[in-house]
Amino acid sequence: MHISTLLFGCGLAPFALAAYSVQDDYSGNNFFSMFTFDTENDPTSGYVNYVDGATAQADNLTSVNNGVVTIASDSTNVASGRGRNSVRITSINQYTHGLVVLDLAHMPGSACGIWPAFWMVGPSWPNNGEIDIIEGISLQTQDAITMHTGPSCSMIGESCDGSEGCSTQVGGPTSFGDGFNNNGGGIYAMEWTSDYINVYFFSHGNAPADILGATPDPTTWGKPTASFVGGSTCDIDANFQNHNIVFDTTFCGTWAGAVWSSDPVCGPKAATCQDYVQNTPSAFTEAYWTIYSLRVYSEASSSTVAVEDDAPVPSSTSAAAPIAQATNTTAPVAAPSASPSATRSSGAVAVGSPANGTAVSETPVSDNEGVSVGSNWQTQEIPEKREVNFLAGGPSGRRADHLRRHRTKHS
Ligand SMILES: *[C@@H]1O[C@H](CO)[C@@H](O)[C@H](O)[C@H]1NC(C)=O
Ligand SMILES: *[C@@H]1O[C@H](CO)[C@@H](O)[C@H](O)[C@H]1NC(C)=O
Ligand SMILES: *[C@@H]1O[C@H](CO)[C@@H](O)[C@H](O)[C@H]1NC(C)=O
Repeated sequence: MHISTLLFGCGLAPFALAAYSVQDDYSGNNFFSMFTFDTENDPTSGYVNYVDGATAQADNLTSVNNGVVTIASDSTNVASGRGRNSVRITSINQYTHGLVVLDLAHMPGSACGIWPAFWMVGPSWPNNGEIDIIEGISLQTQDAITMHTGPSCSMIGESCDGSEGCSTQVGGPTSFGDGFNNNGGGIYAMEWTSDYINVYFFSHGNAPADILGATPDPTTWGKPTASFVGGSTCDIDANFQNHNIVFDTTFCGTWAGAVWSSDPVCGPKAATCQDYVQNTPSAFTEAYWTIYSLRVYSEASSSTVAVEDDAPVPSSTSAAAPIAQATNTTAPVAAPSASPSATRSSGAVAVGSPANGTAVSETPVSDNEGVSVGSNWQTQEIPEKREVNFLAGGPSGRRADHLRRHRTKHS
């Protein structure tokens, strides 16, 4: 499908023909104008007060400095009312298929009670699908990637139906929370076609050279961090449509709050998640996203990509068109000198760097296979509880509620 072929002929120098080109560039000063601020009560019942755009700016929860976007949660005040001040934004534009590339210096850091997510969701949840690219709670040490659909879709050996979804925790200790931040951040990319939804995670030090460029080509990136393949078990086009992009950071609620008392590290800190989040603002000084760039790429027109190996070489004008759209790329930060020290004391898979070919998703760790979320998974596996918790508190009801509201707002 995605052809990236070196073409030779007609005396032209070889040139790469990439299948993706920039559709929407959210980076820098445009960023917040391309989202709406959700100020509703958190559909996931979080202890959070989602503020509007003016308040976020006035309180410096949102800012753009030299093209770098920050989205923060309050970390100075004892919370009151609906909860801790924070931000939830939904893209104005919707997407079906494409390549989404998010380059981060920082994501909300590990903190008891926190629940950040970068995700995409369609109307009429769950029937138009949900793609959770970055998600986790509290002291979780690697990323949870999850698909939610209607009843007719199974991928990675699990039903993706409804609130439980099909989910895998992958990416290793630099993929989430403090581990991600201490490693200088990284790049997440999600490629969505009729055939599969792939998520890639790279640290800056091992990211593909073209990933932030004008014409990224995932076919050259090696094995995805997580791969959700459709086909006979899931008609992806029937189950995933018209997605908005969402960033949010909530607290407690139906996931982080629901597992509070069973978390051996967080639980003892306060009687309830809300008590802790309300009264411990200093725990959330790292509760912010720092975004170098966010771009959505679409497949180039069929006249550009439909080039067989033995087909006629396209004219130089048509072939050059996508290349001429090159936009400036965001320079990744230098790779940190020190590798993260976090290692897993237990846990089922060795997770390596996608860039050096170490398998990261050969055997995805399913949520149902006992590698638990929360701070306790490293030392204590609680598979049954985990599954119950996920059913009760996963990105589930919140999304249904969200979508009802979302639809009302936009229809
Ligand atoms: C606002 O937040 C940005 C990003 O965190 C920070 O660089 C800046 O210093 C803050 N400004 C004020 C006045 O606090
Ligand atoms: C292009 O990117 C470089 C860093 O890669 C940066 O220094 C420069 O300011 C950027 N130019 C524009 C116009 O954004
Ligand atoms: C590949 O990744 C693994 C796991 O992160 C690491 O131990 C190893 O040193 C890496 N190899 C190279 C050549 O970078």
